[in-house]
Amino acid sequence: MRTVSSLSFAKQALRNWREVGAVAPSSPKLGERMTELAEVWRAERVVELGPGTGALTTAVLDDLPHTSDYLGLELNGDFVRTLRARHPEHRFEHAPAQEFDFTSIWPDDAGFDVVISGLPWTSFPEALQKSILDNVLPRLRPGGRFATFAYWGFHQLPAGRGFRALLHSRLDGVESSRVLWANLPPAFIYIGRKAP
Ligand SMILES: C[S@@+](CC[C@H](N)C(=O)[O-])C[C@H]1O[C@@H](n2cnc3c(N)ncnc32)[C@H](O)[C@@H]1O
Repeated sequence: MRTVSSLSFAKQALRNWREVGAVAPSSPKLGERMTELAEVWRAERVVELGPGTGALTTAVLDDLPHTSDYLGLELNGDFVRTLRARHPEHRFEHAPAQEFDFTSIWPDDAGFDVVISGLPWTSFPEALQKSILDNVLPRLRPGGRFATFAYWGFHQLPAGRGFRALLHSRLDGVESSRVLWANLPPAFIYIGRKAP
């Protein structure tokens, strides 16, 4: 399964580098660590941004309580078809994270308590980084957790430093995890909370 996902991922990365922004799906360890830090085990509603071929999704769905809701927002139509076939009981929308209307899924407007992001933030222009956060963070509940990964080394480039500063300006207590060297490329996690 993982080899098929890796091939499909590499094909899409060659076609749409700016959107996919990675050479391979994340490792299972990265997914496990992200869901642990974001405390998915006690979440009621989880939104995943850019699930791709589902590398982080597997860890999220493993930890998600059975009574809780999951929503994946993915820009790439081929990836959405794969995700829907693999997880027919969960909801995947073919939509850009910066435009999605969350009240179309959750009309009570109560928001969600965890965001897991697999987006390639440093390959996005700053305006797109901001418009995604502007659409997502107002719906994150106070005290809710936001987890995203960054590739080690890229975080020192101007785009990486800019994104880190943006996260610090929008979330409370942003921390960085240890580097997971076995990921391709090595990556670490930013975890922050919405101010209560
Ligand atoms: C670096 S890949 C990560 C895939 C997967 N989460 C993983 O960790 O292996 C980034 C994913 O984000 C998706 N993506 C890029 N821009 C997006 C956007 N504006 N809204 C939703 N998904 C987007 C891409 O299509 C791709 O699947």
